[in-house]
Amino acid sequence: MKNFDIIATSAMGLEAIVAKEVRDLGYECQVENGKITYKGDVRAVARSNMWLRTADRIKIKIGEFKSYTFDELFEKTKALPWEEFLPENAEFPVSGKSVKSKLFSVSDCQAIVKKAIVERMRKSYKKTTWFEENGPLFKIEVALLKDVVTLTIDTSGSGLHKRGYRSGQGEAPLKETLAAALIKLTNWHPDKPFVDPFCGSGTIPIEAALIGQNIAPGFNREFVSEAWPIFPDSVWDEVRMEAEDLANYDQPLDISGMDIDHRMVKIAEENAFEAGLGDLISFKQMRVQDFTTKKEYGVIVGNPPYGERLGEKKAVEEMYSQMGEAFAPLDTWSIYILTSNEDFEQVYGKPATKKRKLFNGFIRTDYYQYWGKRLQELINKDKASC
Ligand SMILES: C[S@@+](CC[C@H](N)C(=O)[O-])C[C@H]1O[C@@H](n2cnc3c(N)ncnc32)[C@H](O)[C@@H]1O
Repeated sequence: MKNFDIIATSAMGLEAIVAKEVRDLGYECQVENGKITYKGDVRAVARSNMWLRTADRIKIKIGEFKSYTFDELFEKTKALPWEEFLPENAEFPVSGKSVKSKLFSVSDCQAIVKKAIVERMRKSYKKTTWFEENGPLFKIEVALLKDVVTLTIDTSGSGLHKRGYRSGQGEAPLKETLAAALIKLTNWHPDKPFVDPFCGSGTIPIEAALIGQNIAPGFNREFVSEAWPIFPDSVWDEVRMEAEDLANYDQPLDISGMDIDHRMVKIAEENAFEAGLGDLISFKQMRVQDFTTKKEYGVIVGNPPYGERLGEKKAVEEMYSQMGEAFAPLDTWSIYILTSNEDFEQVYGKPATKKRKLFNGFIRTDYYQYWGKRLQELINKDKASC
């Protein structure tokens, strides 16, 4: 099978996590800003779409070259083998972006790329009239960065965060890809308790259950490249079969989600049922301040309100402080909180073991990590033996 240049796009700050997922799938990769690149065939593209929990999209790079004039852009685009991907009836809209490049007019770049591909296809398909574009969709992107043009086709369709289970949501839902990354950054193991005390629409507990039972995040959705002639149905059948084989539905889980708002608890329950995980996650209405447990060595991952709106900061900080008191006895638990509040550690009452800068959409946040007793001991032991 032909090898492609594959690009898994990633949110800023998540590149290392996406790269680890790509390597775990069995592909050596390189990490750049916002993207992970590797080589692979159609099966690799299909498996990446099916399995990558933290990547945004999977694209195929068709070409990359320097270009300083529109003529150059036209000729170099026309020289690429578009007919190897696009059938005669392909629908192929072209989007674009340009950063620090001589060719800065994005609409002109898009029009030129479109024209060049049409020219190439006319020759290959021996056509003199216009293409009808009533076939499968190939979303092409022309991206210019410092005069380097990268031409890609998107293989995912809707972004990979759209798993197909979240029909209801609250005011500030977390992207499923970021929720999965937050869990991957913890030391959680599926045989340990997992709690999201601010569950909202249930994204974090649902992603934890998918990870816990090794259920592929793309199992319940479709991908635009499924309709492409170069992707035989047998490839997708094989990849879906692999996902079915690798799912561990017998793995017992102890995952719970709480929220102060009973309407969110209902939405979270509905979403979990939609994901087929309704019996695996327990949701209840509760204030974080009232959280107690006799269980040990669990993991808490929380995405509380940030208090960014006018007049909300004080109340949110009071809640953070009470949360610190409620969590203080949980010395065996590891606690992870994502917030944009820069005074979090002070308000919560404890310096974090570690913090990591992450973007929640456009909001700059920190992921405050408080490691539990055993994890702390293991890490100290590790350090001492080095
Ligand atoms: C940013 S949202 C969480 C969104 C969630 N991660 C999702 O993907 O839908 C914060 C949630 O915290 C809840 N909340 C606010 N104060 C709370 C408290 N004191 N205890 C528990 N939940 C609280 C809100 O009702 C809201 O649903």
